Amino acid sequence: MTPGRKKLIVGNWKMNLSVHEASLYLHKLSDKIPVRRDVEVVLAPTLLALQPLSLQVNRRQFKLAVQNFYWRDHGAYTGEVSAAQLHSIADYAIIGHSERRHTFHESEKDIRSKVQAAVRNRIKPILCIGETASERSYGETNDVLRDQLTSGLANLTSDDLETLVIAYEPVWAIGTGDNANPSDVHGAVKVIRNELKHLYGTKATEAVRVLYGGSVKSSSAADYLAVKGVDGLLVGGASLDSHAFTEIVTKAHESTTEAKT
Ligand code: 13P
Repeated sequence: MTPGRKKLIVGNWKMNLSVHEASLYLHKLSDKIPVRRDVEVVLAPTLLALQPLSLQVNRRQFKLAVQNFYWRDHGAYTGEVSAAQLHSIADYAIIGHSERRHTFHESEKDIRSKVQAAVRNRIKPILCIGETASERSYGETNDVLRDQLTSGLANLTSDDLETLVIAYEPVWAIGTGDNANPSDVHGAVKVIRNELKHLYGTKATEAVRVLYGGSVKSSSAADYLAVKGVDGLLVGGASLDSHAFTEIVTKAHESTTEAKT
């Protein structure tokens, strides 16, 4: 682990669990996952459960992330919730997730505006980027990563980078069980870090954490956490299994203790 960058494990619950189930599940996780100084654990429940969980959660133990929001702060936008309204409820915001890009056709402009709105409202952005299966088959992965990064961060200054998290989530690996191999992840993370350096300089980039996501299981977590430049994981399906998620957090802790020995 690079000094100063805490490991980060994010559980994206997606559109699962009722408010009541989410509350019970948080309770269960609270019993299983200890507070650790070297690993930050973030939970992303559905929007409906976010506010009640924000009253229940011990923020030393878990931080909360919103899965989606609208980029304007206030106004006549029926059905939407803004980052301004989420301020002090959500610590992080997942932005540009492939399900938002592909199922809901979010544009690069939407994504860039959301990154800026999150920063403006002091919510830490987790910008998700990644190539589709066909882009991969045409050898376009690196270009896609650079384009999505440049576009998503276009409105940010180097000062804004301090709270930024980038998640590399190859689209073809999400929810498929077909996870990327660690050497491919190493290559992708290198491209991401180099592009960040190119855009903002080495110093500003040092604080940025880069995660891997896509079919992460407790059995594969350690392999990804061992990849140079990977600071944590964005976990979907396995985050809904308390045993698997606890194991993944434990692996993150072990990866930092191993790095110190
Ligand atoms: P899975 O872990 O279910 O593949 O989901 C990954 C993801 O999309 C996390 O945001």
